[in-house]
Amino acid sequence: MHILHVVGARPNFVKAAPVVRAIEKIISARQTLVHTGQHYDQNMSDVFFSELGIPVPDVNLEVGSGTHAQQSASVMSALEPVLISQRPHMVLVYGDVNSTAAAALVCSKLPIPFAHVEAGLRSFDRTMPEEVNRVITDQLADFLFTPSEDADRNLLREGVPGSKIHRVGNVMIDSLVRFLPQATESSLNRIPHPYALVTLHRPSNVDDSADLERILKMLAAVGERLPVILPIHPRTRNRIAKSGVSLKNCKLLDPLPYLQFLTFQRYATVVITDSGGIQEETTFLGVPCLTLRKNTERPVTVDLGTNTLVGNDKDALVAEVEKILQGQGKRGSVPSLWDGHAAERIAKCLLGSLSRAYAS
Ligand code: UD1
Repeated sequence: MHILHVVGARPNFVKAAPVVRAIEKIISARQTLVHTGQHYDQNMSDVFFSELGIPVPDVNLEVGSGTHAQQSASVMSALEPVLISQRPHMVLVYGDVNSTAAAALVCSKLPIPFAHVEAGLRSFDRTMPEEVNRVITDQLADFLFTPSEDADRNLLREGVPGSKIHRVGNVMIDSLVRFLPQATESSLNRIPHPYALVTLHRPSNVDDSADLERILKMLAAVGERLPVILPIHPRTRNRIAKSGVSLKNCKLLDPLPYLQFLTFQRYATVVITDSGGIQEETTFLGVPCLTLRKNTERPVTVDLGTNTLVGNDKDALVAEVEKILQGQGKRGSVPSLWDGHAAERIAKCLLGSLSRAYAS
């Protein structure tokens, strides 16, 4: 049996790592790893492979950056010949990045069966490129591996047959569970405690200079209450420099490798973010998370976990930070199946289905 994984961007690597390992253990299939090259900087890509113990990609499509159409088209035209020559029995795609949707389109037209890991998440906001990627990928996928019940409901509502939907839990949490023992306080060196950890990269927050300026002023207000640590995605770094907003008490860092970022999350007093995965990781860690968005495709982190949506409202952000500093932040609980074994459930499901397909 031959299973081919397509990964492209930072969060994909964290999700694919446990799945590659579980398939190796449970199916012992031949596995091929294709990196689209959507993320290519050393600290956005290579460092994740080495830390997470993912094999070096067999193929790198080296598509790099571009507009959404350019990036997606480059993935499609570079991936198609690879899939034609390799002819895997199954392709796995992850999350909601441009590489995910582009790979889904290529698979479904060849056709080669493919599975979507982290299916069914919906923000119901089609202005987010990731939402478009999710909808396309889920409509085309043959296997939909979901992290939570709301995801199952979204898919059923969109007409996806129940027989394709498999609730397995959260593979990003599999990586977290595996590496948490290594995320020790000793590696926090020179970081003042307590601190707020901030990540910022969504186009809706950073691409327009007026929006970015408003967000930076919000962070400056948080900086008056406690030190702010801000590892920056390359897209944001360029724009912060141009904004001219003074970020006192804010420490800007390069993007952090996985383990160090995990440590920073674990010991943060509060995490302020516009990322998707970080809303989940903070819920698992029991760390209060304030999300700089008006919606989330991960409502379980608000309903059960430690997440609160504050949008771009400075007063709401500062009030929530104050509550957290007074020990009144959300404590939350961990959603079911976020237990470190989601990838094993995926591998077992694939083994059953592929074996049946071969027997018939
Ligand atoms: C992508 C995903 C987003 C995910 C994020 C994780 C899409 C639509 N978005 O956003 O959902 O949360 O990854 O980090 O796929 N750049 C570099 N070096 C790199 C990669 C990017 O400098 O290694 C810069 C380039 O200027 C590029 C910009 O960042 O134009 C945006 O990169 P892109 O891959 O288009 O989207 P992300 O913002 O990284």
